[in-house]
Amino acid sequence: MNHKLTRIAVFASGNGSNFQAIADAVQAGELQAEVALVVTDKPQAVVVERAKKAGVESFSFIPSEFDSKQLYEQMIKEKLEELEVEWVVLAGYMRLIGPVLLEAFENRIVNIHPSVLPAFPGKDAIGQTMAAGAENAGVTVHFVDAGMDTGKIISQESFPVAGRDRAAVEQKIHEIEHQLYPATLQQLFSR
Ligand code: GAR
Repeated sequence: MNHKLTRIAVFASGNGSNFQAIADAVQAGELQAEVALVVTDKPQAVVVERAKKAGVESFSFIPSEFDSKQLYEQMIKEKLEELEVEWVVLAGYMRLIGPVLLEAFENRIVNIHPSVLPAFPGKDAIGQTMAAGAENAGVTVHFVDAGMDTGKIISQESFPVAGRDRAAVEQKIHEIEHQLYPATLQQLFSR
């Protein structure tokens, strides 16, 4: 079937402010996409409420109820295929993607990470940045591969840490993310 708008699923585990920025950009006509689904591994996450308000279906699962990642990813894959999702957009989804989804969506899974990769991959990237006394903090959008934040970099923005405490760095990172992610997705989808 030919869809005019690129159909995406946003995966999130928490607040979902990046989901919100994407949904708002779609609404404003700045991002030519349709958010077909929100997928979360945390059924109580704020992102579920945000999805509801935005009129987007959400799909929650509890990983510990499955014997393996393969089994829950198979279930997600079926749901994505049913909704004809073309791209998977990770936005604060705090799990590694496994082979089932990587193969089904080869080169069509992207992630946003709060550091200037390849520096500070993994958990608490902002904490890592501060603890290392790094000169710059920032944000990276990248393709997802089997590694932890190791895929090909698509876009990146950085700023000097000097004069900012952790809260200010976090705030600046979110500001950048909410612009950079929708804009990068728009570029990718119009290629
Ligand atoms: C974002 O800052 C995102 O970069 C980060 O989680 C936050 C989610 O915020 N992702 C990672 O750390 C992935 N390793 P949000 O739920 O408000 O969009």
